[in-house]
Amino acid sequence: EVMKELLGLRELENKLENELGVKKVIVVAGNSDQDSWVKREMGRACMSELKRSIEPKDVVAVMGGTTLAAVAEMMQPDAKTREVVFVPARGGLGEQVENQANTISAQLASRAGAQYRLLHVPDQISKEAYSSLVLEPSVKDILKLIHSARTVIHGIGDAKTMALRRDSVDSFIDKLIREEAVGEAFGYYFNKSGELIHKQRTIGLQLDDLGEHKYVISVAGGSSKAEAISAYMKYRPSDVLITDEAAAESLLKL
Ligand code: F6P
Repeated sequence: EVMKELLGLRELENKLENELGVKKVIVVAGNSDQDSWVKREMGRACMSELKRSIEPKDVVAVMGGTTLAAVAEMMQPDAKTREVVFVPARGGLGEQVENQANTISAQLASRAGAQYRLLHVPDQISKEAYSSLVLEPSVKDILKLIHSARTVIHGIGDAKTMALRRDSVDSFIDKLIREEAVGEAFGYYFNKSGELIHKQRTIGLQLDDLGEHKYVISVAGGSSKAEAISAYMKYRPSDVLITDEAAAESLLKL
């Protein structure tokens, strides 16, 4: 804590809370674009935030991505986390196995000694498949559990980076460029004013389901994500943002 004062991180946190309208911002030292240990530091901060805020028997929904994978690595069991159920917030969003929400939720649970449930649905399905899948009893059950989550932990990405990582078709990438998309979270793409440009159809929690009763922790760092973080926070300001020094400094320059 004394270290944080010395490094000026506390000041960055206060400024960002005002700037973004986010109740609590936690800034760790470094730049996760450059050093992978910074993601783990954000992960450590995220795990202490989680342990502070959860209640026994809570359902915690998590999204995918490399940052969330680093968050899961930092889970250390304690009496509180053992009673939690971890679930993926959404079905696959074109991520590699180790960065999928299912994998991350299972990882968190196994490290915490807690329970988890998987959501077995394919990526990017047609409208028809979607409508019949959500009626399957086993899918319905897990969806109910996912929607009951009180805490949601998710990443935020740069729009173009995410579209490319998901092997999106050229016409979609062109649309994102034309409409000046800068950020992505939950399969939603935003422009810099925080306006929605596109929603990717997958099963699970939609960003618009995150009412006031959900406790949302966003974890995203690196100066390359500054615009994306700012855009997302205009759409749905999180309860907690965990970021790094490089993103924080770039955010304050926008
Ligand atoms: O694809 C899942 C996801 O959570 C996206 O919504 C988000 O943009 C991205 O991962 C963040 O990934 P990373 O932490 O690897 O930058």
